[in-house]
Amino acid sequence: MLLVGGQGTRLRPLTINTPKPMLPVAGVPFTVHQITRARDAGVTRIVLATSYKAEVFREFIDDADLGIEVVIATEDEPLGTGGAIRHALPHLDSGPDDPVLVFNGDVLSGVDIDGLVRHHRDTGSDVTLYLTPVDDPRAYGLVPTDQSGRVTAFLEKPKTAEEIVTHNINAGCYVFTRRVIDRIPAGRPVSVERETFPGLLAEGALVTGVVDSGYWLDLGTPLAFVQGSCDLVLGSAPSPAVPSVGDFLTLSGAQIASDAQVHGGTVVGRDSVIGAGAIVNGAVVFDGARIADGAHVENSIVGVGAVIGVGSVVRGAVIGDGAVIGRGNELLDGARVWPGAQIADGSIRFSSDA
Ligand code: GTP
Repeated sequence: MLLVGGQGTRLRPLTINTPKPMLPVAGVPFTVHQITRARDAGVTRIVLATSYKAEVFREFIDDADLGIEVVIATEDEPLGTGGAIRHALPHLDSGPDDPVLVFNGDVLSGVDIDGLVRHHRDTGSDVTLYLTPVDDPRAYGLVPTDQSGRVTAFLEKPKTAEEIVTHNINAGCYVFTRRVIDRIPAGRPVSVERETFPGLLAEGALVTGVVDSGYWLDLGTPLAFVQGSCDLVLGSAPSPAVPSVGDFLTLSGAQIASDAQVHGGTVVGRDSVIGAGAIVNGAVVFDGARIADGAHVENSIVGVGAVIGVGSVVRGAVIGDGAVIGRGNELLDGARVWPGAQIADGSIRFSSDA
């Protein structure tokens, strides 16, 4: 089961038109990287738990041939992570004691999917969580385990050094024994992180964690989104769906001037244009965008059909679909331009520090 129904608020304005898992990453919608990894690990059937902009998934899946059966469940109202899992239950073929893999729809990882399921079966766990160690866990809920791997608590974000009892966090991928899903309350919002998992611990259920320190990234923020895309293109993040690994990826119909510099895992989208002398480093340029002569785009996302004017500098920014940035502007460090916005020549020098 893939949970793909969130609104992706942290990635606005990109998610105004397209739900986060359908945003193109290294040439294909992000969800395709997850689906093909699961397929290659032996998964034969996936339920997409949709809510926000469900029709975008439906249109794509109807036409796609991903070599795996994909079924779509759609909530009328968003039910949260646990509510979405419960809502999709009728679409599962699994028996009550079978393992059900559940992935958040925005996690890029190299986790050993088969190993996770094996661990779940071998330990007889009710739920197995994939845990990943992070250097600075202050932005995350912590998941400590005992020596046998049994989860002992689900802790809120730590506020002091003493509260950092582990560096392991919930990586957004679980194996549920199906009968545990049967017991999630139906028809109302439920959070697995805040309600289901702590409830299972309180009643003495066996919840275990598998710590995997391989590649892991939550693509929830613009900077993480750019990083994930670049890592896929550069080959440092694993996916069977990347067309070719290299310093940059050019999609069909894109034109790059001979003296432009494009590198750092940049994706140049279909029919987009990079002008003379432009520098594009570690960026995601969506389809039909135009980076004019001498412009400099770095660690940024340039939306579908957006235009970056001559000599403009865009660094650490998100430019919405169809926005037009006139010549000689500077958009830095967290700047976000809404879809269709027009910025006149030389009118903006933006930095969130300013
Ligand atoms: P932000 O709004 O930026 O926090 O992103 P998000 O909407 O993706 O929320 P979050 O990262 O917390 O969600 C984790 C995963 O669960 C994502 O893959 C979401 O798509 C998914 N998700 C969150 N809420 C729902 C929901 O109500 N229904 C369904 N089907 N999926 C959900």
